[in-house]
Amino acid sequence: MSRPTQLVIDVAALKHNFLEVQKLASGKSIIAMVKSNAYGHGIDRIARALQQADAFGVASLEEGLQLRHSGITQPIVLMEGLFNADELDLVTEHRFQLVIHEQHQVQALENFTAKYPIPIWLKIDTGMHRLGFDPDKFSEIYARLLSCETVQKPLNLMSHLAEADAVDRAFTVKQIELFKQLTQDLPGEKSLANSAGIIAWPSAHEDWVRPGLMLYGASPIIGHRGQEHHLKPVMSLTSELIAIHDLPQGARVGYGGTWTCPEAMRVGVVAIGYGDGYPRHVRNGVPVLLNNRPCPLIGRVSMDMLTIDLRTQPDAKIGDKVLLWGPGLPVEVVAEFSETTAYELLTRITQRVRVVTQDS
Ligand SMILES: Cc1ncc(COP(=O)(O)O)c(C=O)c1O
Repeated sequence: MSRPTQLVIDVAALKHNFLEVQKLASGKSIIAMVKSNAYGHGIDRIARALQQADAFGVASLEEGLQLRHSGITQPIVLMEGLFNADELDLVTEHRFQLVIHEQHQVQALENFTAKYPIPIWLKIDTGMHRLGFDPDKFSEIYARLLSCETVQKPLNLMSHLAEADAVDRAFTVKQIELFKQLTQDLPGEKSLANSAGIIAWPSAHEDWVRPGLMLYGASPIIGHRGQEHHLKPVMSLTSELIAIHDLPQGARVGYGGTWTCPEAMRVGVVAIGYGDGYPRHVRNGVPVLLNNRPCPLIGRVSMDMLTIDLRTQPDAKIGDKVLLWGPGLPVEVVAEFSETTAYELLTRITQRVRVVTQDS
C-alpha cells in the first residue's frame, strides 16, 4: 500500500463554479486564470475541463507553452507579458496574447517584425502600483502602440483591482471610475474584474472578467466562504490515520513538546505534513475531518505527519479517512488558522502528493 496522502480534484465542481461565473458576469467573456499550476489544481487537467473558457491567463511563457503542448487551442494571455524580447518568436508561433505594462516591452514590440499582429492588453495602473502604466503616461504609450505595426488593433485595455475583497469600498470605486474615465471613449476590449470584482463589483465587469480563486471554489472576500457564493471546493486534501496512542496526563506531543495532554487521552497520527504543503504554522485547534467529523489538531505539524486529539472519537481506527480541507471543511478555515489565504494554501501543495481526478 502506498502513502495515503492525496489530492482529489473534482472536475464537476470546477464546471459548476465556471457556470456561477457565467451567471454573475452574464454575457461577458471569461479569461480563466490557470497560472501557478491552476492554483495548485494541475494546469492541464483544469484547462482541458474548461472548454467553455474564452481564454486562459498564465504568468509566463512556460505556462503558456505547457497549455499549448497539452492541446489547448483557446487564446492564452501572458499576464506579465514579456520578460525578455527574445520571447517574441514563441509568442507569435503559439499565438499568445501579451499584457504590456513596461516601457521595455513597448520597445521590444517596436523593434520586432511579426508574421501577424500580436493581440495585446495595455495595462493601466489605476492604484494598485504593481503592474501597469501610470495614468499620466497612458496616452503617450497608447499612441506609440497604436502606431506599432507589430501590434493588433484595436488595443485591449486592462487594469487590476487592489482591494475588491475588502470593506474599504472607496478605493475600489476610485479605481473603477479612473479606469472608465481613461478607457470609455476608446475602442477595444476592456477587463478589470478578478473573482472579488466579479462577485462584489458588477460595475467592474467590463467586457472580459478574469476569475481565478472562485473557479476553484474558495471565496475571495475576506471572512467569507465559497459556499456563500454558491461555489463548490474543487480540491480535497485527504489522508489517513496511521497510528494511535493512549497517552497519560502530562505527556507532551510532537516536536518541541508544545502540546501537553490535559488528561489521559487518545492521540492520532495522520500521514500529512508541511512536506505535502499543509501549513506548518497553523494554530492548534484547527479542525480536520476524521470520518466526516471535526477533530482538533494538536502539537506541531511535522514534515510528513501531524497529530490530532481523538477524545471525541475514541473508536477511530488506523486507516480511517482524514480530510484536511475540501467539502465540509473550507480551505478558508485552515487559512484563517494559519494567518494566510486560501490562495497560498492551494498553490503550495507539493509534488509528492498523489492526485486523483474525479468527474461525477
Ligand atoms: C491580473 C490578474 N487578474 C486576475 C487574477 C485572478 O484573481 P483571483 O484569483 O482573485 O480571481 C489575478 C490573480 O492574481 C491577476 O493577477
